[in-house]
Amino acid sequence: MSDLSVYKILQKKRDSKALSKDEINFIISGYTDGSIPDYQMSSFLMATYLSGMNKKETAHLTEAMLYSGDTLSIATKGVVDKHSTGGVGDKTSFIIAPIAAAAGVMVPMISGRGLGHTGGTLDKLDAIKGIKTAINAKPFVKQIKEVGCVFGGQTKKIAPADKKIYALRDVTATVESIPLITASIMSKKLAEGINGLVLDIKTGNGAFMAKKSQAVNLAESLKNTALNFGKNGYVFLTDMSQPLGNAVGHSIELIECIEVLKGKGPKDLTELSLDLAAAMIHIGGQSSSFTKARALAEELINSGAALNKFIETVEYQGGDSSFVKNYKKLPTAQKRVSVKAEKSGFISEMKNKKIGLAAIEIGGGRRVKTDKINLGAGFYFHKKIGDRVKKGETIVTIHHDEKYKNIIPKLKHMFVNELILIEASAKNVKANPLVYKKQSFWSKK
Ligand code: URA
Repeated sequence: MSDLSVYKILQKKRDSKALSKDEINFIISGYTDGSIPDYQMSSFLMATYLSGMNKKETAHLTEAMLYSGDTLSIATKGVVDKHSTGGVGDKTSFIIAPIAAAAGVMVPMISGRGLGHTGGTLDKLDAIKGIKTAINAKPFVKQIKEVGCVFGGQTKKIAPADKKIYALRDVTATVESIPLITASIMSKKLAEGINGLVLDIKTGNGAFMAKKSQAVNLAESLKNTALNFGKNGYVFLTDMSQPLGNAVGHSIELIECIEVLKGKGPKDLTELSLDLAAAMIHIGGQSSSFTKARALAEELINSGAALNKFIETVEYQGGDSSFVKNYKKLPTAQKRVSVKAEKSGFISEMKNKKIGLAAIEIGGGRRVKTDKINLGAGFYFHKKIGDRVKKGETIVTIHHDEKYKNIIPKLKHMFVNELILIEASAKNVKANPLVYKKQSFWSKK
């Protein structure tokens, strides 16, 4: 019988004192096995939210959550994944995983579902007919070794503590805490058996961490925790003040990814994907520098090898890959409506979070976990910040089903009056850089 007391641990964290590894393990294992009730865990979460945690505590919390479930063992090197903090139109996973795998990196990509204004990779996979994403450990490892890439969903056995704690954070106003976010993300990624990790930390009004200072702190905390576990990596701080690429919606985002893999995708999505894939290839040991890795990533797109790897992965998981040649095979919205500019000028701002939330209005996202997604719904943006636009020109196409037709006039009004702003002069427009910062980190362990 442990002589640790939940009450004393709560008192300690409330008073901003650092907890020991044993104390953190005690709380996490007790909550996971049900011996610590929700009301005490809620108090722990709020105390952590308010008092924070130091680097060591964050690493202990991550470790406790990681070992609350199964961990995969794939190989001692060359296993790399990417984590993005997500946003609107963020879809790089489908592009970079096959590029890196085509270069020889093993990519155990386990993704989640979207909630609120951000989309989820796992939901986008639902648009592919027949694809199986609930894959148990043994076939998962087999696929990684045979194909090099898996598009999977989180099973109940991966970091179960995180699943339970995240649900509680969601209803106790304790989501936006750097140590809690760090442990949540890192416990799941480390459970995949990675040796390296590429972090894409988004900032801007469509990001989870809208303020740059918050994003920088989260990036630092994730990097420190990865290093603590002996992992190499890259951290990118990237822009989410407008949708990434042109498409927001499940089927239309998949199409955009295929276009990038065919070498015909939008510039911003292509550039960021090449950067992230290059980082994966470099830390995966398939190239001696980032520059060489980036050239290789481009070559793998140009030769068709990356697209072939995507097709191979989809087919291995039982999916119908014929949509790659014929996009009509994906779920498609019944209607397309053009939103036209009401004045000439230059696109100066996009209210990205609101754009993500507007997609929910036509079924393109969910408000609560049980909402069903309309996979064909979405927005296609014809312009980006800084682009010139003429009065009457289409700025967005709305893809929607007939049953949402009554919402469309309101959405059109929102797009031209609130969500997309136009300035008369280019002098008043400043587009953010796509990548603010790229930094590699190498563990000495
Ligand atoms: N994503 C996660 O997986 N966990 C968090 O806490 C926040 C974002």
